[in-house]
Amino acid sequence: MIAAFKSLHFLLGLFVSSKLLALAQEQNHFIYHGFTGANLLLSEIAKIHPNGLLELTNTSKQQIGRAFFPFPFLFNTSLFNNSRSLSFSTQFAFSMVSELPTLGGHGMAFTISQSTNFTGALATQYLGILNSTSNGLSSNHLLAVELDAIRSPDFKDINDNHVGIDVNSLISIESAAVTYFSDEEKENKSLTLISGHVMHVWIDYDEVEKLLNVTVAPITRTKPTLPLLSTPLDLSSVMLDSMYVGFSSSTGAVASSHYILGWSFNRGGQAQSLDVSKLPSLPPQRKSRKKPYLRILVPTITAIILLVAISGAAYIIKRKKYEELREDWEQEYGPQRFSYKDLYKATTGFTDRKLLGSGGFGKVYRGVLPSSNMQVAIKKVSHDSKQGTKQFVAEIASMGRLRHRNLVQLLGYCRRKGELLLVYDYMPHGSLDKLLFHNDTPSFNWVHRYQVLRGVASALLYLHEEWEQVVLHRDVKASNILLDDDFNGRLGDFGLAKFYDRGANPQTTCVVGTVGYIAPEVTRTGRATTSSDVFAFGTFMLEMALWKETCRARTISREDDFG
Ligand SMILES: *[C@@H]1O[C@H](CO)[C@@H](O)[C@H](O)[C@H]1NC(C)=O
Ligand SMILES: *[C@@H]1O[C@H](CO)[C@@H](O)[C@H](O)[C@H]1NC(C)=O
Ligand SMILES: *[C@@H]1O[C@H](CO)[C@@H](O)[C@H](O)[C@H]1NC(C)=O
Ligand SMILES: *[C@@H]1O[C@H](CO)[C@@H](O)[C@H](O)[C@H]1NC(C)=O
Ligand SMILES: *[C@@H]1O[C@H](CO)[C@@H](O)[C@H](O)[C@H]1NC(C)=O
Ligand SMILES: *[C@@H]1O[C@H](CO)[C@@H](O)[C@H](O)[C@H]1NC(C)=O
Ligand SMILES: *[C@@H]1O[C@H](CO)[C@@H](O)[C@H](O)[C@H]1NC(C)=O
Repeated sequence: MIAAFKSLHFLLGLFVSSKLLALAQEQNHFIYHGFTGANLLLSEIAKIHPNGLLELTNTSKQQIGRAFFPFPFLFNTSLFNNSRSLSFSTQFAFSMVSELPTLGGHGMAFTISQSTNFTGALATQYLGILNSTSNGLSSNHLLAVELDAIRSPDFKDINDNHVGIDVNSLISIESAAVTYFSDEEKENKSLTLISGHVMHVWIDYDEVEKLLNVTVAPITRTKPTLPLLSTPLDLSSVMLDSMYVGFSSSTGAVASSHYILGWSFNRGGQAQSLDVSKLPSLPPQRKSRKKPYLRILVPTITAIILLVAISGAAYIIKRKKYEELREDWEQEYGPQRFSYKDLYKATTGFTDRKLLGSGGFGKVYRGVLPSSNMQVAIKKVSHDSKQGTKQFVAEIASMGRLRHRNLVQLLGYCRRKGELLLVYDYMPHGSLDKLLFHNDTPSFNWVHRYQVLRGVASALLYLHEEWEQVVLHRDVKASNILLDDDFNGRLGDFGLAKFYDRGANPQTTCVVGTVGYIAPEVTRTGRATTSSDVFAFGTFMLEMALWKETCRARTISREDDFG
């Protein structure tokens, strides 16, 4: 019974042992160029990209990422065959792509551990393998080769860009700044872990020599003949019978993406060399490529958007500024229509400097038309655009067609909302009333006076008898008579003028005109006629004849009238 049990036990033991041996022999070594389809044990945020790139961490802060070979390696077993060996060799290609150009972290470590259960391990300087209580315990059975991009003073780190050998503790037994020995130049060259460049790491342990060698070089280089670290180390107390191999990585307050591109491992012998051409490529958003591009693109786009917005706003403001009223029926008066923009420019924005005079009718500005360099007077009258606009404009057009050398020529008009602008020939000497009542001009002698009176009379004759319609001016007075270059009198201001066909009776309207010039019968009948214009002209003749003497009396009487 006991013998039978023993033999069963033996057979079972043999079966299990041979299985283990088969496993051990099978799994003595592996090589990955990219990890597509690889049966890796991924934990925390580690993931494999579709192209096979192993991403341990991304730029998320305070994160851990791990990737371990899923089966343990039998390091210290002498079962059946004296294949017991603590020697191992590994090489891998990695890249740390940092968020910030000069700051990245935290780091990553090639790890040999007794289990893949790292419950309680911390990120940042603990690299996802230890924590403050477990750090330094010999029960950890942990070997790590750290690639550390942050200087942690509590672990006596030498700098923020180093390789360290850690046994059960994150306080490295030996560490060195990242450099590689260039065999051609026979000198050490420094490397920056977080540069984003792909680097090649070789880690070799020989049980007989009891030396752990760590070598780093750019991926484009062959293995340097001199290792960066060659550290005497007895791993017999660290290694258990079965040990797991893998990578652990962490980020802290600053973060880098940590990538493994390829990995080769061999327990007991030399690891197979990585074929650089078979490695997957890094994601395109590498800072070295994307950031300068963005640095130019973003401000450029912003500037363009801003420019478009500003010019759009400027265009709208400009349109508003030069806005006018223009209707279809006005097209027949085309040549007499001025654009507000031209008039605005002519008077440099209707500045007070260009003001010729102002009164109840509005303001008159002097201007120079930009198109023809012609001097003009521009009268700005407020005008309710809704009422009788069409007729009003028709009358303006009629006035524009009046041609007489003793009339102030109306050149055209412009309509805006609530505003009408009339453009006249510019009369350099102004209106006669200024000359008569406010200016002592000795040169204005009888010859001149006669000349003015004759001119105005001739203009009235033209309006009353000679034009196709009868035009009643209805406001003949000194202030509406202007003097041209040669002191010829010119009748202006047709603001109250009435047009009617020859033979028709003038309509009864409200009494308009200036007190003192209005014929007595007009106040009674309310009907202006050519005769009432002549009456006003007569008053004007008297003014001219009596001049200085009348001016005072008239001014007083006017004030009385209006007072
Ligand atoms: C990092 O990876 C984790 C897990 O895949 C994801 O939730 C997170 O959004 C990633 N962070 C960034 C910055 O891509
Ligand atoms: C490793 O194997 C040797 C020889 O079999 C043994 O003496 C030693 O105790 C083992 N070490 C461990 C940590 O198990
Ligand atoms: C034992 O190991 C040697 C090499 O160390 C190998 O040649 C031999 O086949 C192994 N024996 C068995 C039974 O696996
Ligand atoms: C990992 O270890 C902890 C104790 O440290 C244990 O509670 C947990 O169940 C283990 N997880 C696994 C998956 O074995
Ligand atoms: C450290 O990790 C161990 C497991 O490895 C866990 O039992 C312990 O609670 C952790 N300590 C802290 C402070 O997190
Ligand atoms: C290069 O670095 C190694 C390891 O840090 C050191 O032993 C060696 O002396 C250095 N060689 C030169 C030429 O600086
Ligand atoms: C480690 O480096 C030293 C010095 O270059 C060398 O003598 C030794 O053979 C190396 N050992 C391994 C296992 O590569």
